Amino acid sequence: MGKKTGIILVAFTLHLCMSFALCEYYSETLPFSPKQQVVTNLHFFFHDTLSGPEPSAVLIAKPHLTGEDSSSPTPFGSLMVMDDPLTLGPHPKSEQIGNARGMYVSSGKHVPTLTMYVDFGFTSGLFNGSSFTVFSRNPITEKERELAVVGGRGRFRMATGVAQLNTYSVNLTNGDAIVEYNVTLYHY
Ligand SMILES: *[C@@H]1O[C@H](CO)[C@@H](O)[C@H](O)[C@H]1NC(C)=O
Ligand SMILES: *[C@@H]1O[C@H](CO)[C@@H](O)[C@H](O)[C@H]1NC(C)=O
Ligand SMILES: *[C@@H]1O[C@H](CO)[C@@H](O)[C@H](O)[C@H]1NC(C)=O
Repeated sequence: MGKKTGIILVAFTLHLCMSFALCEYYSETLPFSPKQQVVTNLHFFFHDTLSGPEPSAVLIAKPHLTGEDSSSPTPFGSLMVMDDPLTLGPHPKSEQIGNARGMYVSSGKHVPTLTMYVDFGFTSGLFNGSSFTVFSRNPITEKERELAVVGGRGRFRMATGVAQLNTYSVNLTNGDAIVEYNVTLYHY
């Protein structure tokens, strides 16, 4: 190996170390000036159907319960998976504009409460292919309530915000619910 080749190799390795952090698992920490944030409001209806031959939410795990809770459609400790349609209007046959996919767990020991881990994705319009993520408690016994939006994808990249919920209808026997969502998203 010539001296010149050797120098080039060393320089190349140093360059790799500096630019791709191949010598460490982290990059240099640099000042960051975020772009101007923008705000988008969304309004739609969420259909959570537990009953019938084609439920959109299914029970995947629940504890053994002997107490009075066991008559509830989602007793404490129930874990559900959902693929719930999102529509423009409250009617189930209203135009579908997206779906909410994820899980919720019945997490209130004394008052029915859900904790939701859900990605709300859109399948039409400007935000087709984009989604925002909710990780929040959902105090379902309050008619009006608020969920935390913790992130997003696509046009909703880095989103934070709040989803204001208003129960449109609920069947306390089988758990089927239609919920109005009014979401404010701050994103880039
Ligand atoms: C939404 O995006 C998908 C994937 O790019 C595309 O196949 C579909 O036609 C789009 N739908 C609408 C309504 O724009
Ligand atoms: C609520 O669900 C029960 C059990 O599935 C059903 O018998 C009843 O008709 C439903 N009530 C309404 C108002 O849809
Ligand atoms: C949705 O929330 C925004 C911000 O709080 C509010 O200005 C707007 O009136 C609400 N829209 C509906 C339909 O509730």
